[in-house]
Amino acid sequence: VYIKDLRGTNLLEERLKVFLGVEVKVVPTGLNQNFGKEELGRFAADLLKSLITYGDIIAVTGGTTLSNVAEMMTPVSGKFDITVVPARGGLGEGVEIQANTIAAKIASQFGGEYHLLHTPDNLKAETIYTLIKEPSIKKVLDLAKNADVLIHGIGTAEVMAKRRGMPAEKIEELKSKGAVGETFGYYFNQNGGIVYSTTSVGLKLSDLSKINKVIAVAGGQDKAKAILASVSKKYQDLLIIDERAAKGILELV
Ligand code: BG6
Repeated sequence: VYIKDLRGTNLLEERLKVFLGVEVKVVPTGLNQNFGKEELGRFAADLLKSLITYGDIIAVTGGTTLSNVAEMMTPVSGKFDITVVPARGGLGEGVEIQANTIAAKIASQFGGEYHLLHTPDNLKAETIYTLIKEPSIKKVLDLAKNADVLIHGIGTAEVMAKRRGMPAEKIEELKSKGAVGETFGYYFNQNGGIVYSTTSVGLKLSDLSKINKVIAVAGGQDKAKAILASVSKKYQDLLIIDERAAKGILELV
């Protein structure tokens, strides 16, 4: 069965690569709704470990998916001297799924160091401008911009907008603009166009091209549209998804 699954996911990976333009890894999780989150997390954690070399800087986002990646990561033996930083400041989420918490957990498994960004969302542009010049914040931002690897989650626009406490009328506006996917504060329509972005201290989409390896991780059929909208070779190098998301995407293209 395992060999058959593997062949099946290989085929999915090849087909998805054609549509998305990035390398795709499909984790063979089966199609059961309540299954596969840990497998996805473990796969992404192992892959991250295999990519990291001495002295690397890793930038991470928050979310339940990335929280699972951190949770499933086993301690790394050997000295890597890595640094882990959050890709952006707070996005108004619970502490256990904030990028800061995830950065600290991943750093501890690597025996490396981490830096935190304690900045709220939706600040006024002038405030952000002042904050990013603050030496302690600038230091973390510079690390994130110089990251060797960025690993981030993808959410559906509506779920993420609600989770971040966006007012109902603003959510309606987002929907009317066709927002379907979200990734670290950017909302995309189904053609991959950016229709809205939250103001937060941290990496911008335009910073991604300088990062050697940008990895997106997402799972579940309900994220298929969001993944298709948010992933592009302009931004990511690698996409890690589960089988349900993979099949969901192929039904859309
Ligand atoms: C957020 C990330 O914290 O989590 C986003 O900043 C991502 O990039 C979102 O879209 C995904 O959340 P989850 O819980 O579906 O993994």
